[in-house]
Amino acid sequence: METYRAGIIGCGSIANAHASGYLGVDEIELVAIADPVKEALDEFKERYNVPKGYDDAREMLEQEKLDIVSVATPHKQHAPMTIAACTRKPKAVLCEKPMATNIGECDEMMIAAQRNNVKLAIGHQRRFLPAWTHARELIASGAIGEPRYIVAKGAQGLLNDCSHLLDMMRFMLNDPQAQWVMGNIERKTDRYERGIPIEDRSAGIVQFDNGTIGTLFQELAEPYRQGGTFYGSEGTFDLDERRVQLLSTTKSGSWEEYSPEGENAHIAQARELIEWIEGKVEHRGDAKNGRAAVEIIMGIYESARLHEVVQMPLKTHASPLEVMIETGGLPVERPGAYDVRAFLLRSEEMKY
Ligand SMILES: NC(=O)c1ccc[n+]([C@@H]2O[C@H](COP(=O)([O-])OP(=O)(O)OC[C@H]3O[C@@H](n4cnc5c(N)ncnc54)[C@H](O)[C@@H]3O)[C@@H](O)[C@H]2O)c1
Repeated sequence: METYRAGIIGCGSIANAHASGYLGVDEIELVAIADPVKEALDEFKERYNVPKGYDDAREMLEQEKLDIVSVATPHKQHAPMTIAACTRKPKAVLCEKPMATNIGECDEMMIAAQRNNVKLAIGHQRRFLPAWTHARELIASGAIGEPRYIVAKGAQGLLNDCSHLLDMMRFMLNDPQAQWVMGNIERKTDRYERGIPIEDRSAGIVQFDNGTIGTLFQELAEPYRQGGTFYGSEGTFDLDERRVQLLSTTKSGSWEEYSPEGENAHIAQARELIEWIEGKVEHRGDAKNGRAAVEIIMGIYESARLHEVVQMPLKTHASPLEVMIETGGLPVERPGAYDVRAFLLRSEEMKY
């Protein structure tokens, strides 16, 4: 059995899931971690008994000759750390979601991966949830007929929770391309999430090339959850992380509930990385899917900026939200910067 040396950049909350994922796959050995915050590095090293810890990720990449690199840093570091990892030519990089904070960064990451022959996946691990894979099979088998509308509701800005929701829509529909996007946002407070500006509220509509319309509410309509309601020509289903409830108008005519069991999503995500490296399958988290979710989000911001329906592919490579803020298009009416994830920041990193 071939074994693979894995290292993790960033030792915060999601890094625990990456470590558990790697520890759950026999072929993977977690050999090194990196984090500039000593407290985070030391705790993590001890918790998972990792042989080497580095305060500089680039030094880890130089010294360790890794086969697999996880990028589990805050969003703004996804592109620079993924590019730094790719140039050291590991076999695969698993970068956390959202893939990046704009389309330009996504493209730079994909170019770095291609040039260095690295397989790049994005951590939308819910693609591996038993309930979500079952729901996808139900749609493919025609259980709700032709999928027409999807309703999803999230929080904490479009890039954070909502990138998973847009990825969910595409995954359920067999990864169609977005044709157009329309949306609007409100940002009257100086709001951030892990250091990047986010809106207070937003709504977005996306039309996919199979004809399905997806609607996404961000802090407008509760309950916020990782799931959604899918309306089809012959039925409806409601999905969350653990179960699918199906109403088929042509078959039973009453609600049926499925709560499938299966492997932990992070272990399954790590296992598929090995199968991808070995040429057996394509990873379902392939970077092209991570990019597609970011592109729809940037399309919603661009629609708010230009007051128009935005045709895909998106031509603006910067974040239209950041452009609006920088050019005075979104004046803050209630001053005072705050970060909805400030509770994650440790030591002197804490700013507000
Ligand atoms: N897939 C999921 O369901 C899921 C869940 C939570 C978080 N995430 C994503 O994971 C990322 C990290 O989130 P988190 O909640 O773990 O944050 P966190 O703040 O708990 O951890 C981030 C860690 O990265 C470290 N870091 C920052 N810059 C670094 C650098 N240059 N080199 C090495 N380490 C660095 C920080 O010191 C911190 O310890 C975010 O992008 C987030 O969206 C995904």
